Amino acid sequence: MKIVETFDALQEALLRLKRPLGFVPTMGYLHEGHLSLVKRAKQDCESVVVSIFANPAQFAPDEDLDNYPRDIDRDLELLTGVGTNLVWIPSVINMYPEDFQTWINVEQVTKPLEGQVRNTHFQGVTTVVSKLFNAVRPDKSYFGQKDAQQAVVIKQMVRDLNYPIEIVICPIVREVDGLAMSSRNSYLNEEERQAALCLSQGLSKAEEAFHKGEKNAEKIREIVASVIDEEQLAELQYVSCAHPETLEELEGEIESCLLSMAVFIGRTRLIDNILLLQPKT
Ligand code: PAJ
Repeated sequence: MKIVETFDALQEALLRLKRPLGFVPTMGYLHEGHLSLVKRAKQDCESVVVSIFANPAQFAPDEDLDNYPRDIDRDLELLTGVGTNLVWIPSVINMYPEDFQTWINVEQVTKPLEGQVRNTHFQGVTTVVSKLFNAVRPDKSYFGQKDAQQAVVIKQMVRDLNYPIEIVICPIVREVDGLAMSSRNSYLNEEERQAALCLSQGLSKAEEAFHKGEKNAEKIREIVASVIDEEQLAELQYVSCAHPETLEELEGEIESCLLSMAVFIGRTRLIDNILLLQPKT
C-alpha cells in the first residue's frame, strides 16, 4: 500500500494504478463503517484509493475539529488489511492555501436537517469532496448511508457539475447492540455509550410502527422523540421525516421517508437514520 501526501506524489502514484478506480474519502479514525466502503470498492474496482483528511472547512468554530480523534498508524494498518492500494493524506495548507477563495454550494438539499443546525457544514463538505474528486479522478466513489443528507448532497453535486463519477451509497454499519458506528462514539463514556442506544431504539420503534400501518409523519416523529425523551442523558436536536430525495419535511400520510435525527448525548452530537419504505407488492 502506497502512502502519499502531496498532490504531485498523488498524481505520480495514480499513474501506476489499474482502472476502474474506486475512491473512499474519509476523515480518519477508521472503523468498520469506513472499511465496509473500502471492501465494497475492492469488489467493484481494480484499484482503491482512500483519502484521510479532517477537513477544517466542514467544522464550525464551536465544533470538534481540534479534538477530532486521530490515529494514523492504526488507520494505515486497517487500510492495509482490506487491500487498499493508495492512501492520500493531504495537509491542511496544501488543501487550503492562504489565498483559497473558491467554494462549492449545493442549494436546496443542503438547507434542511443538518444544514439547518450546521449552516456552513455542507459548503465545506462539497468543496473538499470536489477538490478530492478533481485530484483523484475516480470512476466510482463510495459514501455511507450513515450521513444520509451528505449522500444526497454529493449525488446532486455530481449531477450538477457533470462529474463522470458513479456515486455508490453503502448501508449503515452498526455495533451488535444497534449503535451506528461513528468516529465520534469514542467521545462517549460508559454511561453515555449505553444512553446512545436510544437513537437506534427510537428508529426501530418507529420502523415497527410504520410496518404495522402507522403512516402519519407527525406520529412517526413523535415515536422517535418520545424514546429520546425517556433517556436522561439524551437531548434531541431534531427529528425529521423527510422525502428521501428532496429532503423536504413531510406532513400527514406518507408512503416512504428518510427518518433521521441528531441527538446530544452529553456533549457528543450523534446522528442516525433509517429509510422507511413500503414493501414492494
Ligand atoms: P467520515 O465521517 O470519516 O466518513 C467517511 C465515510 O464513511 C462517509 O461516506 C460516511 O458516511 C461513511 N461512514 C461513517 N460511518 C459509517 C457507518 N457506520 N456505516 C457506513 N458508512 C459509514 O463523511 C465524512 O468523513 C466527510 O464528510 C468526507 C466525505 C470525508 C468529506 O470530508
